[in-house]
Amino acid sequence: MRLKAFVLAALASVASAAYWMEEIQHQGVASFNPDKYYQVFRNVKDYGAKGDGVTDDTVAINNAISSGNRCGGGPFCNGTTTTPAVVYFPAGTYLVTTNIVNYYYTQIIGDPTNMPTIKGSPNFQSYGGIGLIDSDPYLNSGTLQFKATNVFFRQIRNLIIDTTDVPGTVAGLHWPSSQATSIQNCVFKLSSRPEDDHTGIFMEEGSGGMLSDLVFYGGKQGAQFGNQQYTMRNLTFYGAKTAIVQLWSWGWTYKSLNIYDSEVGINMSSNAVGSVTLLDSKFVNVKTAMTTFRGATSVNSTGSLVVENVDYVNVPVVLQGPDGPLLQGNPSGLVHDAGYARGNTYTPTGPREYEDRDKAYFPQPTTLKQNGKFYERSKPQYETTASYAFLSARSYGAVGDGVTDDTAALNHLFQSAGNTAGSVAYLDAGYYKVTDTIHIPGGVRAVGEGLAAVIMGAGPKFSDINNPQAVVQIGNPGEAGRVELSDIIVSTQGGTAGAVLIQYNLNTPAGPSSTLAEMPPSGLWDVHTRIGGFAGSNLQLADCIKTPDTPVHADAKCTAAWLSFHATKKSGNLYMENNWFWVADHDIEDFNNTQISVFAGRGVLVEGKRVWLVGTASEHHTLYQYQLLNATDVFMGQAQTETPYYQPNPPAPFPFTRIDTALGDPDFHTDCQSVKYGANTTVNSDGSLSLGGNPVCEMAWGLRILGSQNVLVFGAGLYSFFNNYNVNCSTLRSGENCQARIFWAGPLNLGSGFSTSTPPRDLKCGNSSSFVMSHKPPSHHNTGSTGEAADPRVQVYNLNTVGSVSMITRDGKDLAGWNQNLATFANTLALFHY
Ligand SMILES: *[C@@H]1O[C@H](CO)[C@@H](O)[C@H](O)[C@H]1NC(C)=O
Ligand SMILES: *[C@@H]1O[C@H](CO)[C@@H](O)[C@H](O)[C@H]1NC(C)=O
Ligand SMILES: *[C@@H]1O[C@H](CO)[C@@H](O)[C@H](O)[C@H]1NC(C)=O
Ligand SMILES: *[C@@H]1O[C@H](CO)[C@@H](O)[C@H](O)[C@H]1NC(C)=O
Ligand SMILES: *[C@@H]1O[C@H](CO)[C@@H](O)[C@H](O)[C@H]1NC(C)=O
Ligand SMILES: *[C@@H]1O[C@H](CO)[C@@H](O)[C@H](O)[C@H]1NC(C)=O
Ligand SMILES: *[C@@H]1O[C@H](CO)[C@@H](O)[C@H](O)[C@H]1NC(C)=O
Ligand SMILES: *[C@@H]1O[C@H](CO)[C@@H](O)[C@H](O)[C@H]1NC(C)=O
Ligand SMILES: *[C@@H]1O[C@H](CO)[C@@H](O)[C@H](O)[C@H]1NC(C)=O
Repeated sequence: MRLKAFVLAALASVASAAYWMEEIQHQGVASFNPDKYYQVFRNVKDYGAKGDGVTDDTVAINNAISSGNRCGGGPFCNGTTTTPAVVYFPAGTYLVTTNIVNYYYTQIIGDPTNMPTIKGSPNFQSYGGIGLIDSDPYLNSGTLQFKATNVFFRQIRNLIIDTTDVPGTVAGLHWPSSQATSIQNCVFKLSSRPEDDHTGIFMEEGSGGMLSDLVFYGGKQGAQFGNQQYTMRNLTFYGAKTAIVQLWSWGWTYKSLNIYDSEVGINMSSNAVGSVTLLDSKFVNVKTAMTTFRGATSVNSTGSLVVENVDYVNVPVVLQGPDGPLLQGNPSGLVHDAGYARGNTYTPTGPREYEDRDKAYFPQPTTLKQNGKFYERSKPQYETTASYAFLSARSYGAVGDGVTDDTAALNHLFQSAGNTAGSVAYLDAGYYKVTDTIHIPGGVRAVGEGLAAVIMGAGPKFSDINNPQAVVQIGNPGEAGRVELSDIIVSTQGGTAGAVLIQYNLNTPAGPSSTLAEMPPSGLWDVHTRIGGFAGSNLQLADCIKTPDTPVHADAKCTAAWLSFHATKKSGNLYMENNWFWVADHDIEDFNNTQISVFAGRGVLVEGKRVWLVGTASEHHTLYQYQLLNATDVFMGQAQTETPYYQPNPPAPFPFTRIDTALGDPDFHTDCQSVKYGANTTVNSDGSLSLGGNPVCEMAWGLRILGSQNVLVFGAGLYSFFNNYNVNCSTLRSGENCQARIFWAGPLNLGSGFSTSTPPRDLKCGNSSSFVMSHKPPSHHNTGSTGEAADPRVQVYNLNTVGSVSMITRDGKDLAGWNQNLATFANTLALFHY
């Protein structure tokens, strides 16, 4: 191995001809596509694109995208995982005369070493589409071809999108988008001619998502953004009239946003903007950095704004309200804002309408920062790595057909990659069925193809609900080492109630914050878990259809994970970006996207130290979506969750009735004793709430923070839309009573699962006549519990919830009511300090 490493290192210094993605052997397959000749990888030049800047390449590019009977939306296909594609653009200038139409499950990737340009011709015609690339055209009926909240598994990378020659109104890219989508490393060149109306990215709907490393030149608007929530990092705008028009939002996190030479930086003057969080950013020569509809006095919680570490250079007005400037800047100099919040605050009790800069509410943890900014790092693309350094899973003997047991081949691949300096393990597209744990040791760098490389745990090893086992184990417990993993999905097949999809154990040696660049944390970018709802999962419509009309159905064959992602006690220094931990709520392959009930116990459990969760989402797990347990130094933002649609039929924790106290499982039986119910949600004399509407308490938590130190949440959206598949409980202003509680913060002991009380064990999992749906509060009294009092330090900025009566439960008491924090469809508060 040493010799091989030496050889690789020596060869790597010889410049290679092209980007590795162009050169490697393309062996990816779509395992569950009946067409055995289906091509995953498509080089647009193989479809006739010239890239010479003269030839009209529109048809060739559209053929590269659509060939192979793919999913184009509209009346024919709402989604499928069986036709993934990588559409690759070598260097060149690709002239287009009408829209490039993007399809489902498509990664559009340019050569990052010599970025290709998509150039709109002067006679570009949209024919009803929006954008040089239209990712979701409108049908004649006026609806989007793909329902925006179901647009998953798409990327666009390394493109220059140039509309400068196109007269009139045009967008570079139309991007309604949801989870597991990203745009990375693109440049938008837009016309600034006064008669033109150009926008770099137009996004009007969805439940996203991540954008990073984008540069916009010119335009009437650099971008127009509307979506439930988004995380946007490292976006730079030069010379747009308005850099960003914020069409609407529940929650939005901008990190490292730079705006130069604009009239308006971010236009938030719509009253549909719930909240915006702005970090580590800069406005230079901008007349008005931000506008808001929210005046000096406000009547509700809409337009919450949190700003931290932002510089305004030559900015006359920092924040413009409807009746004049709210924050003045300096027309010829620097104004620095270390931390500012505007909205409802709970510090820790409230609500207090607040607009101020108390230092105590804006701690600056050096452990999470580098050069004064929160640490950030983009997904590596291995621009300088030669193609022969990529070790293909298929060449290592893995079959990846979703049938063959690839356990041994994958373990061999990752061992070799760990031992071979300079190598990158390459998971060709395909389903790698594994029946035992896959070990990824420290030292491994790995990339999956087309976001369609899936490691799928199956069989008895993963099926014992009382004996959880890792499908993928990254590092052995206590191991020191570093990994870089991207574009990989971990899944399960069939009844796998004991599966821990990803167990992360590594403690990565990372330097003190100033040297993080030299000794970076480990990174997981676009590493997702997907449980059910896809072809080959055996967890589809035919297997796990929802049964709202019969009391409960928690079938063992549809119980498919014990825990999705676990950063264990000794893990540390882990950077995660754009990860989606999804338990399917619908069958992606079904034409009507019919809902299904798939059960998975726990979402993301973090016990380690120094963890960044940037643009992550965790959905539909039974007990909780995120839990931080005795964790230290955690950055989260934007974090998004959804409660399972089937609850409370059955209620939590069913079917996961065994409480694992060592892992701090919630103890619903005990916790729910402390809920106080009333006719309406009202504040008691001790500041706690009585919850109106008789909401169910035995519902999954969105976020639990237990005994953790130094936790900063920059934007969280915790949503509960359904009770037993019915949305009435989240109807706007009707009580938000899908569930009593959704966010818990407290020390380790209090009702947190360390309690000694005995949970109910009389109800049998899987017996459909055993469960009783009940909206009644439990009748027992809380015996209380004693134990060590931890000293949590938690800041949550811009918390947005849907469907939960209580927005915050602290130390077992409910203290923020939805009706105190009315905003958009979501309820919003600006700051919780604990
Ligand atoms: C699926 O597509 C059809 C036809 O376009 C549309 O009527 C339907 O609403 C779509 N369903 C979903 C779930 O997007
Ligand atoms: C930000 O994006 C630019 C342009 O893509 C890139 O050169 C730079 O390295 C990025 N910075 C960070 C911190 O990722
Ligand atoms: C902000 O956007 C709104 C809605 O598009 C528009 O009416 C308003 O004029 C804009 N404000 C500024 C200062 O550009
Ligand atoms: C989709 O749902 C519609 C309306 O319920 C139904 O008529 C149609 O048969 C369904 N299509 C498929 C392919 O299941
Ligand atoms: C919490 O973590 C600290 C170390 O960070 C450890 O000393 C302590 O024992 C842990 N407490 C529990 C209950 O696990
Ligand atoms: C609860 O609210 C409703 C409507 O907002 C009101 O009519 C009713 O009197 C309230 N009940 C109590 C007990 O305050
Ligand atoms: C939901 O609300 C609508 C309108 O109030 C009502 O007609 C319907 O019966 C409700 N559904 C359920 C399941 O309660
Ligand atoms: C299910 O529950 C019913 C009613 O409690 C009981 O009669 C039946 O034996 C149970 N079945 C199983 C398989 O436990
Ligand atoms: C909040 O106040 C704004 C401005 O007065 C108004 O436009 C908006 O509709 C209000 N929202 C709610 C939820 O009351």
